Amino acid sequence: MSEMISCHGLVYQQDNTLRMLKSVQEERPVSFQLFGSDPDIMAEAAEIMASLKPDMIDINMGCPVRKVTKKGAGAALMTTPHIAEEIISKVVSRVQLPVTVKFRSGKDQNTISAVEFAKMAQGAGAAAVTVHARTWAQAFSGVIDPSVIEDVARNVQIPVIGNGDVLSLDDGYTLMKNTGCQGVMIGRAALGNPWVFSKDGRPAGYKQIMDGARKHLTLMQEHLPADRVLGYIKNHISRYFKGLQGASNFRKLLFEAPSAEAINAMLTRYHLNDEEQA
Ligand SMILES: Cc1cc2nc3c(=O)[nH]c(=O)nc-3n(C[C@H](O)[C@H](O)[C@H](O)COP(=O)(O)O)c2cc1C
Repeated sequence: MSEMISCHGLVYQQDNTLRMLKSVQEERPVSFQLFGSDPDIMAEAAEIMASLKPDMIDINMGCPVRKVTKKGAGAALMTTPHIAEEIISKVVSRVQLPVTVKFRSGKDQNTISAVEFAKMAQGAGAAAVTVHARTWAQAFSGVIDPSVIEDVARNVQIPVIGNGDVLSLDDGYTLMKNTGCQGVMIGRAALGNPWVFSKDGRPAGYKQIMDGARKHLTLMQEHLPADRVLGYIKNHISRYFKGLQGASNFRKLLFEAPSAEAINAMLTRYHLNDEEQA
């Protein structure tokens, strides 16, 4: 799944927006995610997105960030389901691809609306839905309520993808088993931890972790815009050190590093030091 892309950025063909939709064969099937609140602009943007040939298009109706919701997009669409419905049906009718929708449990604890919202999405032509089982009010805090995913899975015929607090492959299977959802989506636990999708999870040894971080660094250099790549690298590589000895010192050096090459050299040194200590 790409990060969410503004419908306005697409319609105005902004370079920055189009660069965010670069994709490679190895990551297929790939879904591009669209956000916005105007049904006609969303449909026009979806058509432009479809011309870039993703396998699916997802519509974001769950983002709680104020910049997004104040314009009626993201999670705010859960409070205007008639607009959400118009967006889904217009996007579906404009593209030949499966269109999926991601949303939350509801606006807040007193307004849990995921089941009605999922039924509406299904009726408007969504091919699947992803339910992040937190409310808009919760944003990213507190824990998920898996019973909301279960209720949605019981009440629609399209596939349901459960989301929230999945920290490992086993967690994912447990959520599927307990709620009847057909798949899971992993968010924060994948940051600095691409091994989260594998059975054994993150390796124990520093060398393997640093090798993974260096591979990620190389891929970012290859595929991300040169003028922004150092920022992306620092953000993502810093997360590989979570819980490791000496992490805070390493992060300090990382954020002071002048170039990707310097960071690569630091990652090599870091695991060599570890071997010397062992
Ligand atoms: C930094 C950050 C950026 C995110 N960006 C998006 C996004 O672009 N689109 C989206 O649907 N969700 C986005 N999310 C939400 C996650 O996809 C996910 O729904 C949420 O974090 C709950 O899952 P988790 O508990 O596995 O992290 C983002 C979350 C974080 C922390």
